[in-house]
Amino acid sequence: GKGNYRHFMEKELHEHPAVLGDTLRQYLDPKTLEVRLPRLPFDPARLPRLTISACGSAFLAGLVGRYWIEGLARLPVDADVASELRYRDPPLAEGGGAILVSQSGETADTMAALQLLRAGGQRVLAVVNVPESSMARESDGALLTVAGPEIGVASTKAFTAQLAVLACLAIGFGRARRELSTLDEGRLTQALLEVPGNAAAILERDAEIRELAAEVAKARDVLFLGRGPLYPIALEGALKLKEISYIHAEGYAAGEMKHGPIALVDSDVPVVALCPSGPLFEKTMSNLQEAAARGGRIMAFTDAEGAPALRRFAERVVELPHACAFAAPILHAIPVQLLAYHVAVLKGTDVDQPRNLAKSVTVE
Ligand code: M6R
Repeated sequence: GKGNYRHFMEKELHEHPAVLGDTLRQYLDPKTLEVRLPRLPFDPARLPRLTISACGSAFLAGLVGRYWIEGLARLPVDADVASELRYRDPPLAEGGGAILVSQSGETADTMAALQLLRAGGQRVLAVVNVPESSMARESDGALLTVAGPEIGVASTKAFTAQLAVLACLAIGFGRARRELSTLDEGRLTQALLEVPGNAAAILERDAEIRELAAEVAKARDVLFLGRGPLYPIALEGALKLKEISYIHAEGYAAGEMKHGPIALVDSDVPVVALCPSGPLFEKTMSNLQEAAARGGRIMAFTDAEGAPALRRFAERVVELPHACAFAAPILHAIPVQLLAYHVAVLKGTDVDQPRNLAKSVTVE
């Protein structure tokens, strides 16, 4: 049941800390600060190339995974939504590997991508939440997210659990390919181990995010912006808002604004920015300043280090616990999901069962 929560989605949002802890403990050792992966269907040190495919939010988790894996393991990654991959018939590298991401493990397009990849000689690893699912059975190996059942149609805890598994894989691949030192590995796993506690601290900012939601709920269109691994989180924020509140939202790479979308910006369009401190902070901030100069109302998520500079021009700044740049995408996913939740509640939509959608899309 929902316990004391109004919706399954609210309950599931509050399970983030526990689910992230359970999932991370599965793949990393808190004592040695090492990633411990079960036997994989491919040797990451020998892979020429990796394909990531999935649908919806699971695909967006995969996109974050691409930034991490390319960055930490210097392994080239292709990422494509399964409904495209299955008909694109891409040339696949000999001896290549693939990762499919799915909560249900039953999504029809992702299953079709699995078959295509295996027929093309790729060794396929599934990152799934349901151990007895078709995807877990039919792939060459499976890693489980330990999210427990997710009832709300909008994916929440399953998405951050997927990120946690992909983060561990990226570290493991980096070590296998000799791109990461033991010191780097320790620093990265330490950052991941702080994620559950930070997630709990973010959930305590609920009232602040509800205030932000009251502004967003009045809008007809909303833009979500981020750079690097925060770009897929911007896409996730926009997807979640569309899905449950029916407000039109677009996620963009912040650097793309001047190539078109900035034409939409005026004082009616809230611009939700994912702007943690780190290597891309200055670049993202200057894109936001350009939007603010055109009347855009900037609502930024950042940390203590980023907040002062953003406060100079942003309408609202929500300060999240400081995390190293590596963990920031996981932490920023939580407030954008919370935001969508509160907007939907304010609009009075059916949060757990949005119109026209099914939890598991088992038809093409
Ligand atoms: O079960 P799956 O993870 O394969 O589902 C994929 C998508 O259908 C799913 O993530 C969908 O986009 C969610 N409703 C998003 O909140």
